[in-house]
Order: sequence, then C-alpha cells, then structure tokens
Amino acid sequence: MSVSEEQVKEALKGVKYPGFSRDIVSFGLVKGIRIDGGAITVQLVLATNEPAIPQTIKAAAEQILCGLKGVDNARVLIDIQAPPAGAGAAGVGVTRIEGIKHVIAIASGKGGVGKSTVAANLAVALQKTGAAVGLCDCDIYGPSISLMFGTRDRPTATEENRIIPIEQYNLKLMSMGFLLDDTAPAILRGPMVTRYTQQFLRQVEWGEIDYLVLDLPPGTGDIQLTIVQTVALAGAIIVTTPQEVALIDARKAATMFEKVNVPVLGLIENMSYFESPSDGKRYDIFGSGGGEREARRLRVPLLSQIPIDIATRESGDRGMPITGERGESIVAKEFMRIARGLRETLP
Ligand SMILES: Nc1ncnc2c1ncn2[C@@H]1O[C@H](COP(=O)(O)OP(=O)(O)OP(=O)(O)O)[C@@H](O)[C@H]1O
Ligand SMILES: [Mg+2]
Repeated sequence: MSVSEEQVKEALKGVKYPGFSRDIVSFGLVKGIRIDGGAITVQLVLATNEPAIPQTIKAAAEQILCGLKGVDNARVLIDIQAPPAGAGAAGVGVTRIEGIKHVIAIASGKGGVGKSTVAANLAVALQKTGAAVGLCDCDIYGPSISLMFGTRDRPTATEENRIIPIEQYNLKLMSMGFLLDDTAPAILRGPMVTRYTQQFLRQVEWGEIDYLVLDLPPGTGDIQLTIVQTVALAGAIIVTTPQEVALIDARKAATMFEKVNVPVLGLIENMSYFESPSDGKRYDIFGSGGGEREARRLRVPLLSQIPIDIATRESGDRGMPITGERGESIVAKEFMRIARGLRETLP
C-alpha cells in the first residue's frame, strides 16, 4: 500500500527551516505533494538568496521521505523566488508597514537578558533625538512594555476597526498588556499568536513614524517567524549578557536573522558589569569579554556594554524607563549614544 498525503505531510514536519525552530510545513513552504505508488514528488517554494538553504532542506526532506514505509523514491523540487528588496524572508510576502520608515527588532536567544529594557530605553532615546517612534511589544505571552511604561490604558479602535496605540512620553505603544487583565494569562495557541502579531503590526494606527521598535520574545519561535516572514525589517539588534549560555543563544538568534537576509545591526551586551557605588570597583558578575568575542565572531559591531544598574531596574519597575527619568545617568547616556548611532545607520 502506498503512503497517504497526510503521512507525507506529517513526515515533512520533521524538516526544520535552517536556523529556525519551525518546520517547513507550518512555514507554508509545501506547495504540492504527488504520490505515484512508491514514488513521491514534493514541490516547495522558498524565497532566499542563500544557495545552501534549499540544498539543506532538499537533502533533509528526501532523507526523511525515503525512510517512510512504502516509499521507493522521493524527489523534492524547490522553486526559488527572489526575496523582496530591502529585507528578505524565508517565506513569501514580506512588505513594508505603511507610514513607517524603519522597523528594528530587539531580539535575544535567551530569556531575561534585558530585551524589553533595551527596547523601552532605545525607543525613549530615539524619541529624545527628535524622531517619531513607536514601540510594539511582540511578546504576546509575556508582555512587559505596558508595565515598563506604567500604563494600563485600553486602546480604542477607529471606525475602520484600526487600533489606536497608547501614547506615553511621546511614544506610540502597543502591548498585549493593554488588552489583558493581570489575572488573565495569555493562553493562546500557535495560530492565534500569529494573528495577534500580525494585528499588532498591521492593524495598529502607527501613523507616520521614523522608527518602530519591536520587543521580541526570547528565542526563534512562531512570533519571530511571523515577523520576519511578513514585515520588511531594517535590522535586528541582539541583546545578550556576557555569559556563555546567553552567547550561544545570541548566536542562534543572529543566525536566524541572517538566514532570512535581515541585517544584524549589532550586539548589545547587557548586565556587563557592576560598579560598586561604595568603592567604585568593577565586578564582572556574569564574566567579561563575551559580547566582544561574539560580536567579532558574528562580524557585527558591539553597540554597547550596559552595566547592571539598580536605578535601571527600578525605573523599569516604576513605569518610566531610565533614559526618560534620569538623563544624566551612565545607562541613559549609553542609550542616547546607541540611538544617535542608529540614526546615522538608518537615517
Ligand atoms: N542593565 C540592567 N541592570 C539592572 N537590571 C536590569 C538591567 N537590564 C534588565 N534588568 C532587569 O532584569 C529583568 C529582566 O529584564 P527584561 O524584562 O528587560 O528582559 P527580557 O530579555 O525582555 O526578558 P524576557 O525574555 O522575559 O522578555 C527586569 O527586571 C529588568 O528590570
Ligand atoms: Mg521581554
């Protein structure tokens, strides 16, 4: 008896898109399956400039299919489409968000390294340089931007059903935290998360802005994929701590963006060191030199080393990022420096 189309699809779910944690089926790359007795032909469509990607996928898919019972020979044909100009994506259909000049993703492999802190402060810093800025909390499961900006206002909608973002400190903000109560955990399954992510980017009335900063959840999962698959990103900034465990994951995140032709603008090493207020001594709590090494390895700039700073944490918890609250502090000045650099890189 020959295999069924369902079995072939199931088997193809075992093939991951290189650099991502998601498989080629859920990525929507499978365009056709033909079964002719023991011979299977699978048609895939991908948009990439990297020749290694289709080769890797083809080899992995054929190997998996040949391992199926009742299959004598498996052929995987790949139709390669040129990725859209600007930023690319593994899938098809990457487009700009109207009115927005540059979309910058703040990402990390490991959780808790300070992405949201960086995203919030960078957004404030960019705004202080005179740019019009939006900040979108793409961490649908664990939103923190609403907390970091100390507001629980509920967004309203226009007659055309577009969501009006919350305005705070001259920034336009969107976060799942504005839509949920504290007590209601975000129990969402894959497709819903994809839909929310899309809506946050496309259905929010961002207006004319220079920079939309995206605070991503950690890792290389569904949300990241939805974003790189559909939105033209100007670039990504990877946040890490100097620890080896964080650096390994930072590398994975950087690789993910590279695979879909999104430039990595640089690395930010957060919680780099602690300077004791009593004696001014510097302590390398999470080790030292890791960010610099990793940046060299990835051939991207090390944009900054941000110390562990009590005021930074307190400001975040209080709902006013330190760059807005204490402009004279080292951390605030550092974010201003990064923001000015970004404005030069992405004018
Ligand atoms: N440089 C810093 N100094 C002191 N505390 C910091 C610093 N950076 C971040 N923190 C604190 O560490 C905690 C985690 O930071 P944050 O929420 O920004 O990380 P994250 O990478 O966004 O986490 P998640 O992966 O859960 O989204 C927060 O309480 C934040 O205030
Ligand atoms: Mg976060």
